[in-house]
Amino acid sequence: MRRVVLAFLCVLLFGASLARADDYPSHPITVIVPFAAGGPSDAMMRILGEHMKQTLGQAILIENVTGAGGSIGVGRAVRSPPDGYTVSFGHLGTHVANGAVYKLGYDLVADLEPVVLLPSNPMVIVSKTGVPAKSLSEFLAWLKSRPEPASAGTAGNGSGSHIAGLYFEQATGIKLQFVPYRGTGPAMNDLVAGQIDLIVDQTSNSINQVRAGTIRAYAVTDDKRVESAPEIPTTDEAGLPGFHMTLWSGLWVPKRTPHEVVTKLNAAAVAALNDPQVQTQLKNLGLQMPPQDQLTPEALGAQQRAEIAKWWPMIKAAAVSAE
Ligand code: MLT
Repeated sequence: MRRVVLAFLCVLLFGASLARADDYPSHPITVIVPFAAGGPSDAMMRILGEHMKQTLGQAILIENVTGAGGSIGVGRAVRSPPDGYTVSFGHLGTHVANGAVYKLGYDLVADLEPVVLLPSNPMVIVSKTGVPAKSLSEFLAWLKSRPEPASAGTAGNGSGSHIAGLYFEQATGIKLQFVPYRGTGPAMNDLVAGQIDLIVDQTSNSINQVRAGTIRAYAVTDDKRVESAPEIPTTDEAGLPGFHMTLWSGLWVPKRTPHEVVTKLNAAAVAALNDPQVQTQLKNLGLQMPPQDQLTPEALGAQQRAEIAKWWPMIKAAAVSAE
């Protein structure tokens, strides 16, 4: 008798979760952006969310949950109910590097379900305008001449800007003094004010300040120039050949989120990415759309696993301590 009741309850619960998945979404969806408002993660998600809400028919609410290189926000999403109403926005830093820096209390692959790969961009080496350098080689010479390490803003240990800074140290042999912020939005405010010396930043975060002349750009970490910022040379052209890094972003949901829900979220994100107006906004920030054949949840999962294999050895060799 007990088995019959148990079986009946399982069928009931399974049926209820399918019903919930069928009418998903029936109320607003929260996307946890693990960095401060005004930064590149926040900016990209707000642009995409404005379009996704049209497809989903529900508001997309952005919650900036910051700290510890983004891992606080990702942890919040991991522990949320697997019902599709809490989505984790993240990137190379939060969903790859954090796993090599922090004892997370969750598994970046086993505890999350990939939804979709989002746009990517190279990093750009930028400094305050007070630095007496007009080229990357002059900037590197200035850095090497300083008695104390220059201050480099990051979004916290394990963030994309921090990993880029570690990679910069390794590529140039120049030690930096990392200054952590709750995102590279606040870090940018201090760079413009001359409070810190540099950021190895996402292009999408720096590009408008470069255009305004409030910071100086030396090179983008790619083998081709950014279409919407052709005046910035590549590291290959500027004297740091092979110093390439692409920061890609993505959306995830907690493990065990129903497949139908993942499919609906993926379809809404893909519709946004294929919208001409959304593409214009993102490309103007220097962001590149993912290839069409990379827009499945499986493609994001493969990307994340490949990048863990690529970046963890360098990060662990740098013996980065958690914040
Ligand atoms: C990072 O450096 O990880 C991000 O650019 C931070 C942010 O999006 O604010």
